[in-house]
Amino acid sequence: MKGILFTEFLQLVEDKYGLAVVDELIQKSELSTDGAYTAVGRYEFSEMLSLLHNLSQYTKLSIDDLLLAYAEHFFIVLKRDYLHILEKYTDPLEMLSSIEGHIHVEVLKIYPDADLPKFQIIEKTDTNLIMIYSSSKAMYSFGLGLMHKTFEYFNANATIEMEKIKDDGTEVKFVITKNG
Ligand code: HEM
Repeated sequence: MKGILFTEFLQLVEDKYGLAVVDELIQKSELSTDGAYTAVGRYEFSEMLSLLHNLSQYTKLSIDDLLLAYAEHFFIVLKRDYLHILEKYTDPLEMLSSIEGHIHVEVLKIYPDADLPKFQIIEKTDTNLIMIYSSSKAMYSFGLGLMHKTFEYFNANATIEMEKIKDDGTEVKFVITKNG
């Protein structure tokens, strides 16, 4: 997993809970780097799972809820660092249906060793989008949070339903309906 996911995760923990909690989390999570990540580095995904697990114990929030909150923070990072990609879009459904074919393709140019999820489009109309997320990381809640923020970014509303195709969350169907 790319380092930017780790640096921004720890930044969010610092913003919400303070540096002391970041330190405690790093110690508990037994990380290869002692928490000294760089954005362009690449680290084991198991370290992210360990961080999420320990933060979940500390906050009593589920890992899914933590990933949703993390996605909200990460969208701000996307606006800060990758606005040129977001600016190509004028419509949330256009943007979300372009993750696989354009957005994450651009990401691979920036980070050739990124390990990105797949989004297979099943159906797309002006108001509906059905996609299947697949990734061994099962970070579907992170995806859901980014989708919510995408609609907010365009001042639009949507109903987003999730249905696990595989129980472990490595394959999840998203049914997105734009309202109004
Ligand atoms: C400018 C826009 C975007 C950029 C620059 C971007 C970049 C990235 C990067 C760098 C990673 C980490 C890859 C790794 O660890 O190797 C990632 C992961 C991910 N991205 Fe994007 N992304 C963008 C938009 C989106 C959007 C709109 C979604 C909405 C669903 C999305 C869904 C995900 C998910 C779910 C992951 C987690 C990895 C996984 O599940 O396997 N991304 N993205």
